[in-house]
Amino acid sequence: MYFVCFVVNKMKTVARTWKVNGEEKTVKVPPMRRLLDVLREDLGLKGTKEGCGEGECGACTVLINGEPVVSCLLAAGQVADGTEIMTVEGLEKTAGGKILQEAYIEKGAAQCGFCIPGMIMSSYSLLSKNPKPDEATIREAHAGNLCRCTGYQKIVEAVQQAAGKWPGKG
Ligand code: FES
Ligand code: FES
Repeated sequence: MYFVCFVVNKMKTVARTWKVNGEEKTVKVPPMRRLLDVLREDLGLKGTKEGCGEGECGACTVLINGEPVVSCLLAAGQVADGTEIMTVEGLEKTAGGKILQEAYIEKGAAQCGFCIPGMIMSSYSLLSKNPKPDEATIREAHAGNLCRCTGYQKIVEAVQQAAGKWPGKG
């Protein structure tokens, strides 16, 4: 019986090799395991938070090939080999990420901080594609990230400040 269970469990795992925060990582996981859990528990990247677990709050947002995605709704088996995944831990490896983190701190954009790992990934994705966004564009880019503390204004100001210093901006 034990042998049968062992074989079935083995059959139910898939191997995936991704580039996570610039480093190649291989995981062997059940295909339906949530990317959120793989990142937090298997890869030890605890910065990404779980809020609602239903795709509503954006706390679990990570970047998949540069696009913000809620990792609580994405199964690991859906993420192809070679995919680039960026979590909040990856920000400090980039010039823009450091600028954003400083701006969030200087503007007081984080209060309890729970939403911030997801929020700032949306900020990074936006500024990477559009380093001169207007306020409406900033608000729209963060519409999937809920914050119960800040009223959003300081977050908008942080993104505006980071935009003014974004690397490569002419
Ligand atoms: Fe994923 Fe809320 S925890 S959207
Ligand atoms: Fe508390 Fe956003 S800072 S939820």
